[in-house]
Amino acid sequence: MRKPLVAGNWKMNKTVAEARDLVNMMKSPLGELTGVEKVLCPPYIALMTVASMLEGTDIGLGAQDMHWEEKGAFTGEVAPNMVKEFCKYVIIGHSERRAYFGETDETVNRKLSTAIKFGLTPIVCVGETLDQYESGLTEEVVRRQIKAGLAGIDSANAAKIVVAYEPVWAIGTGKASSGENANTVHQKVIRPALSELFGVDGAEAIRILYGGSVTASNASEFFSYADIDGALVGGASLKPDEFVAITKAAFRP
Ligand code: PGA
Repeated sequence: MRKPLVAGNWKMNKTVAEARDLVNMMKSPLGELTGVEKVLCPPYIALMTVASMLEGTDIGLGAQDMHWEEKGAFTGEVAPNMVKEFCKYVIIGHSERRAYFGETDETVNRKLSTAIKFGLTPIVCVGETLDQYESGLTEEVVRRQIKAGLAGIDSANAAKIVVAYEPVWAIGTGKASSGENANTVHQKVIRPALSELFGVDGAEAIRILYGGSVTASNASEFFSYADIDGALVGGASLKPDEFVAITKAAFRP
């Protein structure tokens, strides 16, 4: 049984003071929800504050990105051991990083190897753009992102990886994929590609999240599908009631 996971990607939102307020509003209701892994991914600058606020809770903390090198002359970047100091999770290869900051399957792969080396749980994002979706290229694109992004990872570490399928056309648009469409991509494209890399058992252990305009009102539809193991939530993770409701909906008795 794969434990459901719901992660909130705050993106470039919230000052440290605002982050403190947001965590204060969500901490106890989230803490009461058992049977779901809960993760908050605030901006780097708020990680230290949020980490201390989450101490003693079962709410995990994640960074939104990191560099693949361990240290050195990389102005503006954040190293894996800096992330590790506060976080258990790290988002890798988000489509916004791919679209605006030159992230490629190769850099995703390097970051993933480093994350595993440092004992972090990577949440690796894949997903096709609107053009690719409309041209019927979803399978080809997502398959390539999985095969290239996760290449060379030892099967023994496969279960530590979390994949998030986030069709770019659904991110921040209010136009979520249907649960059926997302589940089909998870089942027919992502898990088979993972099986080729890690074997059937290895692939079965990997959680595949859906992301893209998940809200409190559509969350249960996604979670009713067997191959949707949770959600990566953007906009709605900034609204405490919404995020708590989404997390609650992910629970599988
Ligand atoms: P959204 O973002 O929920 O605002 O669509 C999802 C994501 O980018 O992870």
